[in-house]
Amino acid sequence: MKILVIGSGGREHALCWKLAQSAKTLALYAAPGNPGIAQVATCLATSDYLAAAESIDADLTVVGPEAPLAAGIVDQFREKGRRIVGPTAAAARLEASKAFAKEFMLRAGIPTARFATVDTADQARAALHEFDFPVVLKADGLAAGKGVIIANSPEEAEQAIAQLLTPGSILVIEEFLTGEEVSFIVLSDGVNVLALEPTQDHKAVFDGDQGPNTGGMGAYCDGRILGDFQKALVMAQIIRPAIEHMRADGHPFSGFLYAGLMMTRNGPKVLEFNARLGDPETQVLMHRMESDFVEPLFAAAHGTLDESDLNWRPDPSVCVVLAAGGYPGSVQSGDRIDGLDQVTGATVFHAGTKIIDNVLATSGGRVLGVTASGATLQSAIDNSYEEVRKIHFDGMHYRTDIGQKGLKRWT
Ligand code: AMP
Ligand code: GLY
Repeated sequence: MKILVIGSGGREHALCWKLAQSAKTLALYAAPGNPGIAQVATCLATSDYLAAAESIDADLTVVGPEAPLAAGIVDQFREKGRRIVGPTAAAARLEASKAFAKEFMLRAGIPTARFATVDTADQARAALHEFDFPVVLKADGLAAGKGVIIANSPEEAEQAIAQLLTPGSILVIEEFLTGEEVSFIVLSDGVNVLALEPTQDHKAVFDGDQGPNTGGMGAYCDGRILGDFQKALVMAQIIRPAIEHMRADGHPFSGFLYAGLMMTRNGPKVLEFNARLGDPETQVLMHRMESDFVEPLFAAAHGTLDESDLNWRPDPSVCVVLAAGGYPGSVQSGDRIDGLDQVTGATVFHAGTKIIDNVLATSGGRVLGVTASGATLQSAIDNSYEEVRKIHFDGMHYRTDIGQKGLKRWT
């Protein structure tokens, strides 16, 4: 069986790493992949993904990032009769347009922050009267987790409007919610749903959730993040209505649906939907997943997910992201990465790396994801950081408190 994974980040490396462990005989390919992925799969250096799938006659393609989904890669593959895991462009609007997602949630009765959609600065100023501070301002399109500003005063709101509302664009203004953030990701075939374990991401660049938002600086997966009652509530109030209403609207959602949740005192509320797996959530999910993941992926593409099940190891997993100097702003790249050969107790997923003259070097904002497990969350954290300290590149920075949110809740 031939599987093609689309993408080149830590998420795709983790997915390939997991698929490579399948009991089934697989030929694994990635387009375009990265040097870490090249250790477990054949990398195809192209951005013409359909041609890549055709050239190897892939039995299944799995899409990692949002951009090809929003651009219609799934529609394109289906027209050619190729099996692919992911939503169509119409279904991927749940991520690609925050305005679409908010209107959808309103119609489907899915709990989310109260909001207003505006397209001029004057409308934005008028709408702000309906909200208390802090208030949240979100650009409408894909922004890699960086298009959201939390304004604490009218002055900050004014700055955010100037920054996010470009001519012809839409701005979503919404109520600020408090609680624990949880990434709740499911795999769907458009009808049936298979839930992955809840995870927690760390979006802000600095310890203690300080500084600007990033794509995610680290994550952990621990069986205690949500109890059975809370999981059932999320499924009943958020995931099932989303899948059912998308189907009723004529845009069945298949692929990975990622609900970014705030667990508020009034129950779970959706901060955002993504139409894909999370990064770095996937790194900790693949590390903790016990089941073979090949079968559910095929089932998602064949519409038979009702027959699939997933088992998870009891041990929590933790991923610490090592970022390049300057991230999440503009980053330096081409710096030599040292110490990976010393790592023994963690899996290092590559994100922004490349080989220059036979040397591994940085190439992007998030460079590596050091992922380890442990019998307890504390030991998983310790195991990750022990290996992190062996790795070095110029400008490298990382958060030192990944997983502490969980420790605080459970001790
Ligand atoms: P989003 O891309 O919409 O998930 O927003 C990125 C991050 O901004 C989230 O992970 C939250 O940390 C924060 N955020 C977004 N919306 C809200 C909200 N309504 N209340 C509080 N924090 C929010
Ligand atoms: N880690 C957040 C995301 O993948 O959107």
